[in-house]
Amino acid sequence: MKRYRIATIPGDGIGKEVVPAGRQALEVLAARGSEFRFEFEDFDWGGDYYRRHGSMMPADGLEALKGKDAILFGSAGDPHIPDHITLWGLRLKICQGLDQYANVRPARILPGIDAPLKRCGPADLNWVIVRENTEGEYSGAGGRVHQGFPIEVATDLSVMTRAGTERIQRYAFRLAQSRPRKLLTVVTKSNAQRHAMVMWDEIAQEVAKDFPDVAWDKEMVDAMTARMVNRPASLDTIVATNLHADILSDLAAALAGSLGIGPTANIHPERVYPSMFEPIHGSAFDIMGKGIANPVGTFWTVVMMLEHLDEADAARRVMAAIEHATANPKLHTRDLGGSATTADVTEAVCAHIAAAKSPLAAA
Ligand code: IPM
Ligand code: MG
Repeated sequence: MKRYRIATIPGDGIGKEVVPAGRQALEVLAARGSEFRFEFEDFDWGGDYYRRHGSMMPADGLEALKGKDAILFGSAGDPHIPDHITLWGLRLKICQGLDQYANVRPARILPGIDAPLKRCGPADLNWVIVRENTEGEYSGAGGRVHQGFPIEVATDLSVMTRAGTERIQRYAFRLAQSRPRKLLTVVTKSNAQRHAMVMWDEIAQEVAKDFPDVAWDKEMVDAMTARMVNRPASLDTIVATNLHADILSDLAAALAGSLGIGPTANIHPERVYPSMFEPIHGSAFDIMGKGIANPVGTFWTVVMMLEHLDEADAARRVMAAIEHATANPKLHTRDLGGSATTADVTEAVCAHIAAAKSPLAAA
């Protein structure tokens, strides 16, 4: 029997509510007599840890994660700690420290979800955004000098390397190739950003030669926002820099109906280090502790984790349980206009997973 070592990092805010829900779904899945088991280890890193220790995670934290097969992450963000400290102290530290260079964000309109675009049905919006996750605008390079003086200077330097650009484009082309439409849009801004983004375009052209069966095009990031709204069906797989994809992925989640249901995978494709899976919604302190957070983003995140572990049947089973739940308006949480609780949705999803007769029966 296979055993997967999973690190859980609930982090802050509603992360503490949705990660246990995700873990419960995984436990129900394993208890069905499947061919695998999970060994969980929980890490209490985040804002509370920071208040006790002065850092978001211990100095040897990355080492503790390296022995795991995957990481299930909740969120990082605390109203009493500056955002750049919580982010750089935990989530970005893990993404960069474990070289999780491909941030993968699927968006589609799940059954029962009311999406905002008229004339756009579920078949028209089925995207995967691939976000460069270790460099670019989030390289961390830069600084502030002469603080507080009129001559103060502040820089955030966007750093793009040939190696970093090539590996993310290659990942995106490969992903596009694995999807039925074999269609990739490379997002750029090479009209205004005349150095790094020109290199980005050139590398896309070079990498494309290795994928003759993938149809690809190029879109400026500003025009891309309009295209996502006006011609959603013209898109399938999308690759963009760290910041461009950060913005486009929020738009994608909103167009798919809710920021509460989207998942993210921070992938280290070479599998030397574990990959990390998280819902995109963030810590949402305004609803924390009320039991009304939407756990669907975490369940979908669990699906991505199972896919990464090559447990495709199990992933399909959890996805079927999610779609069964979203199709029922009584199981919609407040973000979707309903009044269901985290526990209601979790119970329904877990019951559906438990009831599935065989891996394929649920697919
Ligand atoms: C995301 C988030 C983060 C980011 C925030 C919390 C800094 O928006 O995961 O997209 O910009 O990367
Ligand atoms: Mg974002």
